[in-house]
Amino acid sequence: MTSMLSEFAQDVRAGLGRSGQRELPSRYLYDDLGSALFEAITCLPEYGLTRAGERLLGAHSPEIAAVLPPTTAVAELGCGSGRKTVPILESLRARSGRAIRYFPIDISTAALHACARELASYAAVTPLEASYLDGIARVAALRDPSQPLLVLFLGSTIGNFDISCAVEFLAALHARLNPGDALLLGADLVKPIPQMLLAYDDPTGVTAAFNRNILGRINRELGADFDLTAYEHEARYHEPAQRIEMHLRARSRQRVSIPDSGLRIIIEAGETIWTESSHKFLLPDLDAIARDSGFHPVSRWVDPQWPFAMNLWSAGG
Ligand code: AVI
Repeated sequence: MTSMLSEFAQDVRAGLGRSGQRELPSRYLYDDLGSALFEAITCLPEYGLTRAGERLLGAHSPEIAAVLPPTTAVAELGCGSGRKTVPILESLRARSGRAIRYFPIDISTAALHACARELASYAAVTPLEASYLDGIARVAALRDPSQPLLVLFLGSTIGNFDISCAVEFLAALHARLNPGDALLLGADLVKPIPQMLLAYDDPTGVTAAFNRNILGRINRELGADFDLTAYEHEARYHEPAQRIEMHLRARSRQRVSIPDSGLRIIIEAGETIWTESSHKFLLPDLDAIARDSGFHPVSRWVDPQWPFAMNLWSAGG
């Protein structure tokens, strides 16, 4: 039976059908509604992360472009709307004097369209609808090998990986790059716990809606009957692992049927479904991750208002 199920149905079955802590992979937060809710999160006064990254690129893109070869092409993992990428493309274009090749990589067609529209006047855009590593493999086939490549991974999405998976992912990325290529990696830093908690549990309730939407998506796509009002959004900080965790806590005992996953479950009152981890870093953590994945730190910029690091790493050579 399992082989007949879609990947989503299988992952839901594995994550919700287990004994012990129930879990859903955080990538399923991003259907069209979830992506729109995430865009809204980036506007929240309590969520300073995206603005910090934008401030750093606004202030330091000319410096970043200055240390890269003038012919550099750009690939971006998870391009979103593309808005945050404008300063770096402009600085590279100003340095080279001609249009930059830009490969946005995303699994969302809507995001790729929006990004290609937004950035068409800044670069020669080749959108790639793919997972990150498949997209980079496609860039490897499409790019001019004599042109160095700058890979952008900007919004601290690396924090949504478990640390060992982050190193594994970055090592796999490194293996697909050439000597002379570089990575610009955004990473959110550890800050006072109340500030971090507020960023993931905003009083407007946008993050709660973003979190609950994962159950709505299971209802819509897998025919389930979750009562969304029966789950409370919860953000906690796990200090030893330096991560914010998002959970959905059942307010009362819930009987749920998920036909397309072949699953009927009972979620006890107070039980939680863990939907996301968002790791926060210390600067030495980032140096260790660079080393363990084969990259060499070149430069780093930290936002003074919202501790967030933009890291320029070389692939070597
Ligand atoms: C996409 N990612 C970096 C966000 C984060 O901060 O971990 C996702 C998010 N989850 C809740 N708010 C924002």
